[in-house]
Amino acid sequence: MEKLIIEGGIPLRGHLKISGAKNAALPLIAATLLTPGRHILRNVPDLRDTRTFLKLMESLGVTWHYDGYSLNIDSTRLGFSEASYELVKTMRASVLVLGPLLARLGRARVSLPGGCAIGERPIDFHIRGFEKMKVNIRLEQGYVDAEIDGRLQGGSINFDIPSVTGTENILMAATLAQGTTVIKNAAKEPEIGNLVDMLVGMGAVIEGKDTDRLTIQGVEKLRPAECEIIPDRIEAGTYLIAVCATGGEATISGCNPSHLPSLLDKLRTAGCLIEEDGSSIHIAARGNGGGEFSIGSADIKTMPYPGYPTDLQAQFMALMSLSNSVSVIKETIFENRFMHVAELRRLGADIQTDGHTAVVKGVGTKGLLGAPVMATDLRASSSLVIAGLAASGRTEISRIYHLERGYEKLVDKLSNLGARVWKEQE
Ligand code: EPU
Repeated sequence: MEKLIIEGGIPLRGHLKISGAKNAALPLIAATLLTPGRHILRNVPDLRDTRTFLKLMESLGVTWHYDGYSLNIDSTRLGFSEASYELVKTMRASVLVLGPLLARLGRARVSLPGGCAIGERPIDFHIRGFEKMKVNIRLEQGYVDAEIDGRLQGGSINFDIPSVTGTENILMAATLAQGTTVIKNAAKEPEIGNLVDMLVGMGAVIEGKDTDRLTIQGVEKLRPAECEIIPDRIEAGTYLIAVCATGGEATISGCNPSHLPSLLDKLRTAGCLIEEDGSSIHIAARGNGGGEFSIGSADIKTMPYPGYPTDLQAQFMALMSLSNSVSVIKETIFENRFMHVAELRRLGADIQTDGHTAVVKGVGTKGLLGAPVMATDLRASSSLVIAGLAASGRTEISRIYHLERGYEKLVDKLSNLGARVWKEQE
């Protein structure tokens, strides 16, 4: 196993290009199962999760060729309709094959994901949604066994709370259902808009893109897709926070600033100067370049899009650990997403938690000291990277395979911004 070594205390400066979004790439790859043929996806990030998902696709009979940017998928021959526990346990997003397999083959068997580091994360909304589409579902021996006689039937589905992959799963299935499906209280994350664009390009009839009500008029047939993955807003947000935390200045290009409304607002509150144009963001920490810099405090509460994203909560907590005041961080999406707190404390952060609320007493921009820490999940790991970059001395982060799930070329990108960071064998 590898660990990441960071010699911190260097302001990040320069230019960085953002990769395609992991959480858009996975559903878009799943959507190629909907119809036979050769599909082309571009701007596909080279990540551990992308590779795991392609392994799953392969196990279903799909062939593919990937050059690190363009992914060609041939889904003509599907031999299997089962996603095994071996694959699903390493990546919950595997559940996204359920909708497309049901729509194309009329049956699917997908392992139940089980618990994960950030919370229980059930898939009951997906299951209830498919039941509304007249799918027979049995839960047996850790698997969801789903089958339909004939075609899926359109239905009216109302999510108790907006679910990202739940919306995506039902949306994909509904494109080939008989009749109209309405998804109410749908999630509105930009990755869902990307999926809608791809499906419409394949011949699907969908209304309500980027709203909480999607109406899908089922069609008999779709055609193969050609689509580009949107930029990764969480990757962009992570680097913006890292630049601010180290007192640096950088331009982040190839991103979509309009997908980060809440974070940009909070970074401005924390004192950063931010300029946006259509596809790039320039950020400068307050006082950067003058030797001393400071970070103001800002409170956050995670919410479905366009609220503050849960996937940027841990990173913002690392930033607030360095502020000159107190901030309150509330996690409302996942029940166990404070695993980074104990690790941040190892670097000297002053954080108290009570249920879903964390009170962070900033120790100032010179207050953290490097230490050995352990990555627990993807976003928790990136918060440790940010804290390590800002801390003085050496930080060693073990179990970095978590980071490789969602950050493409992390070491190269940080090195280009002047960070002293490298990998070593544990
Ligand atoms: N929920 C249920 N039942 C369900 C589905 C969801 O109770 O059937 C609950 C969840 O437990 C959670 C809330 O609804 O409390 C929202 O969960 P959601 O379904 O939206 O999460 P997800 O689709 O499993 C995606 C991202 C996550 C991201 C969340 C929230 C992908 C592949 N994953 O997960 O990304 O945190 O939405 O925005 O799109 C990450 O990239 O690090 C990551 C965890």
